[in-house]
Amino acid sequence: MRVLVGVTGGIAAYKVAIVVRRLTEQGHNVRVIPTRASLEFVGQATWEALTGHKATPDTFEDVPDVAHVRLGQGADVILVAPATADFLAQLASGEARELLGNAVLSARGKIIVAPAMHTEMWANPATQANVATLRSRGIHVIEPDVGRLTGKDSGPGRLPEPEVLVSAVTSVAEEAPLSDTRPHWDDLHGLRVLVTAGGTREYLDPVRFLGNRSTGHQGCALAEAARERGADVHLIAANVALPSGEGVRRTDVETGAEFAAATREAAKEADVVIMAAAVADYRPAEPSATKLKKSGGELESLALVPTEDVLRGLVESRSPSHTIVGFAAETGDDAADAHAYAQSKAKRKGADLLCFNQVGSDQGFGDVPNAVTMFDSGGHHVGHAAGSKLAVAHAIWDQVVALRADAGV
Ligand code: CTP
Repeated sequence: MRVLVGVTGGIAAYKVAIVVRRLTEQGHNVRVIPTRASLEFVGQATWEALTGHKATPDTFEDVPDVAHVRLGQGADVILVAPATADFLAQLASGEARELLGNAVLSARGKIIVAPAMHTEMWANPATQANVATLRSRGIHVIEPDVGRLTGKDSGPGRLPEPEVLVSAVTSVAEEAPLSDTRPHWDDLHGLRVLVTAGGTREYLDPVRFLGNRSTGHQGCALAEAARERGADVHLIAANVALPSGEGVRRTDVETGAEFAAATREAAKEADVVIMAAAVADYRPAEPSATKLKKSGGELESLALVPTEDVLRGLVESRSPSHTIVGFAAETGDDAADAHAYAQSKAKRKGADLLCFNQVGSDQGFGDVPNAVTMFDSGGHHVGHAAGSKLAVAHAIWDQVVALRADAGV
């Protein structure tokens, strides 16, 4: 999820560094916009180090990028903490001061404000009227805590503890469905991305093959989302009938061997590889050059040999600046549920991220909504996303961005 944290000029800004850290640890893609006054309390370098992104208060930086609109429009949730009395007044009257004011006015997602100020300022009828206005417009206002304030005085006005703010963000986000129409944050700009999609075919003879039901919808959505977010995208499409969006370089393949060769080669030039293709694990040992004849009896057996595990090869030969994402389409059985299978596959495969989606006879394939659960290489649950395949694709990219920021690459 994309979380925009606005920080305004109050001493409690220091607590928000912990909020930003926790949200990042939870796998969210976090950006901070401080106001100029807030930089008196916590400096820009802190926000940039914690998020791995620029954190400027200035509307007039990156003007061609239209950051003031893009950051607000692209966020799933905006949290302004601490929100000063002045910022509440500004928001209530629709003013767009500095980058933060512009971003919040352009928001399409949910907005949460966490006011923090002296008791008299909080109790002032003007502030209370502003808070009522914000609430009437659907903005979530977190009540300040009662306790010790900056000086020797105490009363209502303290910023709640970081845990309270973090759980407010996650619970508000749960009410907000992921949208696939958000503009990008351009956070993949300069990144070379390889996405594989579709399903391979292993020929028994010139007419028949062993294949699978993958249509390539999720892989194509991943390529499209990456393109929207500024990446240089190469798609390896195994038997995909769908068009790939404008600006996506595409290589079409059919068999597992073609897939393996093309993917190995293209991966050498990629910073991130997402293996969404369903690759056959076995192929016929001796494919026939001519059409096999039904010679009257039963087909006693079909000798199969294993194919190359491309993902394993990529994981084994990767460098620290590479990010490798695998997929696992699983069903449960009597021995374990699909989730448990996916978790042990995450550990076995060793990819930086493994996206598990439950499949079934009427689930998962084609142009239908999808749901993925994400695990890291240790099998730990790091995220979940549900919605259209494009919305899920954006959520997977959010996770990749967070992972890379965490790894410092
Ligand atoms: N994969 C691959 N090469 C293969 C098989 C799979 O690169 N020969 C990749 C897929 O693209 C996917 C991940 O490995 O990202 C998991 O694929 P899956 O078929 O679920 O895993 P398998 O290792 O084949 O495990 P199993 O069939 O036992 O579930």
